[in-house]
Amino acid sequence: MEKILVIGAAGQLGSELTKSLSVNFGSESVIATDLQESARAKFDYCHFEVLDVMNKEGLRNLVKNEKVTQIYHLAAVLSATGEKNPMFAWHLNMESLLHVLELAKEFKLDKVYWPSSIAVFGPNTPKINTPQYCVKEPNTVYGISKQAGERWCEYYFQKFNIDVRSLRYPGLIGYKSLPGGGTTDYAVDIYHKAIAGEKFDCFLKSDTSLPMMYMPDAIKATLDLMNAPRESVKIRSSYNLAAMSFTPKEIYESILPYYPKFEMEYHPDFRQAIADSWPDSIDDQCARNDWNWKPDFSLEEMTKDILENLPNYKF
Ligand code: SER
Repeated sequence: MEKILVIGAAGQLGSELTKSLSVNFGSESVIATDLQESARAKFDYCHFEVLDVMNKEGLRNLVKNEKVTQIYHLAAVLSATGEKNPMFAWHLNMESLLHVLELAKEFKLDKVYWPSSIAVFGPNTPKINTPQYCVKEPNTVYGISKQAGERWCEYYFQKFNIDVRSLRYPGLIGYKSLPGGGTTDYAVDIYHKAIAGEKFDCFLKSDTSLPMMYMPDAIKATLDLMNAPRESVKIRSSYNLAAMSFTPKEIYESILPYYPKFEMEYHPDFRQAIADSWPDSIDDQCARNDWNWKPDFSLEEMTKDILENLPNYKF
């Protein structure tokens, strides 16, 4: 039986991915962990443990005692939060990945999943249809940690045969949890404000185009990659992944038919420079070729789904 450990399970991605893993593998196969005891309430359907990923011995004991076979390591400090405390972000993002990779080696785990991001790209990267292989030069500590992490993943695959798999997520948009500290998070907050009947103050300029993805597509991509035969996974750093690109003005316009009185103002802050350093759109041909990736949701379909479901969603 697989025993799947999810680290950072209460985050934006983890909240939904952990549920899908439980549906696919059975709840008894999933162990959700997070830093906060308060996260326990979210995981009444599977085993939950409080775990600080920086607690190397605690993590090792859990992997050993529970006979873990796969780790999904989702805990990270995101781009905007990372800029406020760069050393902490570097320390947490890198040390935790290295702990996990070392444990994968020691306990011969079947698979490891670790998310990368469009933040690996930087101002010198081609902005339109950014290719899989190109200049990166990220200029946020989050992006630097993701780029270095990609190198370590590939290194552990090549040197130690660890089956580590990874995706460069665009901005992820879901309504089942609140986001924490990302530059793309305005595209989550905007729906909450529209539904609350409040004006939205956007921290990016109206024409800032960024690659984005609706959470069900991100979950599908993650599970498809993890279920793909080992030999199909040809990229062991991290795959480019795309679904849609839009600007703040375009997402606002997708909401207007549902909330015609909704208003939005633009007050760009330090996150504008982060967004400006990232691609407008992504070429994900390798993911499409290697494991048949294809997204389901456009901006209009996502907006419709969120505005229909979020008002009744119980946090
Ligand atoms: N969504 C992330 C962020 O904005 C990028 O991976 O930080």
